[in-house]
Amino acid sequence: MTVGIDKIGFFTSNYYLDMTDLANARGEDPNKYLIGIGQQQQAVIPPTQDVVTMAANAAEKILTESDKHDIDMVIFGTETGIDNSKSAAIYVQSLLGISSRARSFEIKQACYGGTAGVQMAADHIAMHPESKVLVLAADIARYGIGTPGEVTQGGGAIAMLLSANPSILALDNQSTFHSENIMDFWRPFYKREAIVDGHYSTNIYIDFFNQTFKDYCQKYHRNLNDFAAIAYHLPFTKMGLKALRTVITEDAHSQQLLKEFDASKRYNALVGNLYTGSLYLSLLSLLANSTDLKAGDRIGLFSYGSGAQGEFYSGTISDGMHADKMADEFESVIADRVRLSVSEYEKMYADGLPTTGGDVTFDSANDPSRFIVLGRQADQLV
Ligand code: HMG
Repeated sequence: MTVGIDKIGFFTSNYYLDMTDLANARGEDPNKYLIGIGQQQQAVIPPTQDVVTMAANAAEKILTESDKHDIDMVIFGTETGIDNSKSAAIYVQSLLGISSRARSFEIKQACYGGTAGVQMAADHIAMHPESKVLVLAADIARYGIGTPGEVTQGGGAIAMLLSANPSILALDNQSTFHSENIMDFWRPFYKREAIVDGHYSTNIYIDFFNQTFKDYCQKYHRNLNDFAAIAYHLPFTKMGLKALRTVITEDAHSQQLLKEFDASKRYNALVGNLYTGSLYLSLLSLLANSTDLKAGDRIGLFSYGSGAQGEFYSGTISDGMHADKMADEFESVIADRVRLSVSEYEKMYADGLPTTGGDVTFDSANDPSRFIVLGRQADQLV
């Protein structure tokens, strides 16, 4: 029996900001944002969406009625939740009609929360092979208007169904991790925007990647040639490239890893940072866009959450993975996005995050998404 990711769903806002427009408005050379940072567009989250609605919209796309019956654990990784007490998982469980015979809870450790959920789900299924676990990873990344972090904002949700004998990625049950008390990025209760020591955070990210990758290779007697591709947590796409460059050489396999990295960053460059979901959007991008990957290939995954926690683990592509279907599903989410001017984005940003208390309703003429925050109208802001 193998255990791993059987389905992946994605959702993001219907609005985006173009990074050339943002660079021009901030007096920067657009190439700094497009090449130096590696971002082309950024999702702008309207007041009709929060992490609950985005995660529900992502999960609704992948779950059948039979999945909803079989799920016995719902894990929600987020660092931009809507309540300090009640978990976002309970809301999604009830919105989607998932069986109430389930454990349902939220996990927090910055961007690492999604990976903590995946690992916990895998352990649970290994003990209970009939189980299915829904792992949600949703966030809204905010740094502030005119800050250096502004170009690395974004938001959205990933929903993953984990099961025995999965269709997409079978986990190898091989992983190494590292944690240290570090102040590179944090958001205390009184702040709506993250506090970040930007350049320091990029150095720590690379240190944690090098540490966990080295530990993984020693522990499992592997080296770079054992990986057909490596997917990274991508707060901005250049970040993963910087980390990859610390372990590659000039040889042919390294060139192939760079090619796969190109496939893995494509979707993240259009959406921006979705914190807990970023690594898994990159995995989706890799599987949907790679022209060379095939069943049986091993993929490395590097997860990083500021504060800080890093983990390197691996999985093997399953027979049932359908790249074209994944690509079509992603395209359907972003196909009709509305491009905001910088002033429209600033107005939407100033409205802030919704404080829903979990009040969510179905379809609205103002939002193509199925689940939206009750009583909020995006079109009043644009
Ligand atoms: P900055 O200081 O404005 O940018 O902020 P910079 O001056 O360092 O320039 C960025 C790159 O653009 C550089 O390339 C420049 O050379 C290049 P690099 O040397 O790094 O390869 N550049 C140009 N390239 C082409 N044409 C040009 C040009 N001009 C300059 N004309 C920074 C950058 C990332 C620090 C900022 O955006 C920031 O603070 N972002 C937020 C923090 C962040 O994302 N950190 C990542 C690691 S921490 C993490 O991943 C965890 C996180 O997801 C949160 C969580 O865990 O919850 C953030």
